Amino acid sequence: MKHETVLLEEAIQYLNIKPNGIYVDGTLGGAGHSKLILKYLKEGQLFCFDQDEYAIQYAKDVLKGFSNFKIIKSNFKYLKEKLAEENVFGIDGILFDLGLSSFQIDDETRGFTYLKDTTLDMRMNQDQELTAQMILNTYSLEELARIFFVYGEEKNSFKIAHKIIDRRPLLTTMDLVKITDQVNYKDKGHSAKRVFQALRIAVNDELTVLEDVLKDAVDLLNSDGRLVVISFHSLEDRIVKHFFKEESETFTPKNMPILREDTSKMEIITRKPIYPSEDEYLRNPRSKSAKLRVARKK
Ligand SMILES: C[S@@+](CC[C@H](N)C(=O)[O-])C[C@H]1O[C@@H](n2cnc3c(N)ncnc32)[C@H](O)[C@@H]1O
Repeated sequence: MKHETVLLEEAIQYLNIKPNGIYVDGTLGGAGHSKLILKYLKEGQLFCFDQDEYAIQYAKDVLKGFSNFKIIKSNFKYLKEKLAEENVFGIDGILFDLGLSSFQIDDETRGFTYLKDTTLDMRMNQDQELTAQMILNTYSLEELARIFFVYGEEKNSFKIAHKIIDRRPLLTTMDLVKITDQVNYKDKGHSAKRVFQALRIAVNDELTVLEDVLKDAVDLLNSDGRLVVISFHSLEDRIVKHFFKEESETFTPKNMPILREDTSKMEIITRKPIYPSEDEYLRNPRSKSAKLRVARKK
């Protein structure tokens, strides 16, 4: 199982790599981006984060010809602490290529896909306790409906949550798909798409950790350092877009004479997101929803 790196050249170009700089790949995955970063680095150093043991083992093999990198098995929400342990308090660029690797999606044992009958797991970090099965079998009607609505924009969230509670215990992905098939029978796409996205986000707390890590990344960046983010759905992209906007605006206190001093921390480099080329998404259909946004620390 191989992961096809998305927006490879574009992401690395926007990182604007200084050969002696310190860089972070927040989402190592199949190491496609890391490998290209390392090709540009001379004396510099790369720190790679992933919380998935399989990704780390895979990436070690991909990066075996290089020496100036360190893989840190951790959720990127601990970015600051983990880098401090390495005596790193300033970085020149950081990349987040969010979501899952193809090998996680395709692995039948991980429960990320609605196309195969497998356990309802969905953990990126295999040491974590909370699984999709625990959420489905223990959360209240309101909690389930909220997850489906907020993280999946699922219009039938209450109906689906009701049926889940009636049918408990749900054990496999197909137990859940049977329910979404009944409720979303009019859907043109797969009936479970939004519910699976929502569960995955809830299991891995993906949106909260993204919001938190963006703040830490800005604190860590040296002047002229780059923050590069590739997102795959509108909820992620909205967070990145709003964050960039906030960090690039000057705060003017109400009822104060307007001071024109620029207090913003970041400059947005990509006013509009960068999309994969037609050539790329024809080659790799999974890249189709990708959006790349870049900001620079002032
Ligand atoms: C889309 S893949 C990255 C692919 C990589 N850029 C490449 O070129 O192969 C995302 C990776 O980030 C990891 N990941 C996602 N969220 C994470 C988080 N909060 N902390 C650490 N790793 C995370 C996933 O386990 C997955 O391996």
